[in-house]
Amino acid sequence: MEDAHEINKRWWNEVTPVHTRSEFYDVEGFLGGRNTLGAIERNAVGDVAGKRLLHLQCHFGMDSMSWARLGADVTGVDFSSEAIANAKELAERAGLSDSVRFVEADVTKVGVVNGGGHDVIFTSFGTIVWLDSLDNWAGTIAENLARNGVFYFLDSHPTIMLFDEETSDFRIRYDYFHQEEALFEPAGASDYADATYTIQSESRSFSWPTQDIFGALERKGLTVTDVREYPFGAWPQFPDMEKHDDGYWYRTADAKSLPILLGFKARW
Ligand SMILES: C[S@@+](CC[C@H](N)C(=O)[O-])C[C@H]1O[C@@H](n2cnc3c(N)ncnc32)[C@H](O)[C@@H]1O
Repeated sequence: MEDAHEINKRWWNEVTPVHTRSEFYDVEGFLGGRNTLGAIERNAVGDVAGKRLLHLQCHFGMDSMSWARLGADVTGVDFSSEAIANAKELAERAGLSDSVRFVEADVTKVGVVNGGGHDVIFTSFGTIVWLDSLDNWAGTIAENLARNGVFYFLDSHPTIMLFDEETSDFRIRYDYFHQEEALFEPAGASDYADATYTIQSESRSFSWPTQDIFGALERKGLTVTDVREYPFGAWPQFPDMEKHDDGYWYRTADAKSLPILLGFKARW
């Protein structure tokens, strides 16, 4: 049977060129100086000037380069050749090639990146759902984090991943707990960054409950700290969400609160 990650790589290689052209990612705005990082991750990670930062699952690199614009020396890792080729080209166009580099590799297998010892390891938005092993993911973090470094994670809260994203009645569609068998997404889905594009590839994804995320890091000797749950999201994850002036997406005022985002740090 074909490896889930090999299947996903084809999916990401297909959608990446769609993303670079999409309004959702707004490459022109980025080239004009827009910083793609949100207030949550910028405040949580703090000052990165002069720090070595490793960005896992960097896609075509706009967040990596946004950290570089804030003064970090950045290495982005992604397994999609399309993502890495586009990231390198964009770094040239943005004049950031001296402070950011991109490595094409699977984050569950990459080993030590650029000598290891990173002050900050960062990953955000649409990451572990694609991974078949959090123990291997945590191994990469442990191998690459400096003794006084910090890992920062921000993504969809595992609780919100239960619900059918196509309806606003919060119908449970997915397992909360991890299943050995991957979730199968057939060809024919719309792309999240450009709904007019129909994806020809299929994909596989995985549910990861909070205990598995924290547990994988703890088993490598890291301590999880600064756990934060947010009742709003970074994009309209469900049809009943509206954008507020702070740039985040909230459920309507009369709706009960739900944990939409999960952020935390891990350290030695
Ligand atoms: C939604 S993006 C996350 C980055 C960022 N939030 C963004 O939207 O630009 C997910 C990225 O994970 C990458 N990816 C998925 N599985 C991976 C793996 N096993 N190893 C490395 N990269 C992977 C994909 O190629 C894609 O670029």
